Amino acid sequence: MSNARSRIECVRGDLTLERVDAIVNAANEGLRGGGGVDGAIHRAAGPGLLAECIERYPGGCPTGEARITGGHDLAARYVIHAVGPVWRGGGEGEALMLASCFTNALAIAAESGLRTVAFPAISCGVYGYPHDEAARVSIAALVEGLESRPEIEARVVLFSEELLGVFADALG
Ligand code: APR
Repeated sequence: MSNARSRIECVRGDLTLERVDAIVNAANEGLRGGGGVDGAIHRAAGPGLLAECIERYPGGCPTGEARITGGHDLAARYVIHAVGPVWRGGGEGEALMLASCFTNALAIAAESGLRTVAFPAISCGVYGYPHDEAARVSIAALVEGLESRPEIEARVVLFSEELLGVFADALG
């Protein structure tokens, strides 16, 4: 039985301040920045982040997938931009897309030899994903992705007490 669940921590905080190998951005398919945590990350990283996104990923990133860039002025060394699904009632494969954001971000972290990764509550803001459902899907995908990657530790950094409670419950 792997100790994957014990390598996940749910904390209250500001993702842009995390001193980890990579923070995961809740981006959109254009990878051109936006509001929410995407906006906070671009503000903290400085203009070099947007420039790198445009340069390296002119076509953006499809929902459910992720792309890596440098961390620029952030404390984190890298940013892994994941594009979560917009919640449309649950019948359009949203759970699968949300899970694959976490699965793909962990795969990129492993390929890049990273050891510490911090996630936001992807799709739980502007994209309207119900929080308890998102927490269940996200934690399950993290546990599964960490099972075969004993070298990686993950944090979920929640911006509200409400979301911290929901994610901590899902982690059990
Ligand atoms: N640190 C951690 N979490 C944060 C921060 C922060 N600094 N700022 C916001 N959040 C939280 C939100 O409160 C929410 O719980 O991140 C979670 C994700 O919400 P959004 O940032 O709105 O992301 P999402 O719901 O995935 O929508 C993505 O919003 O900002 C645009 O460009 C982005 O189009 C994309 C869409």
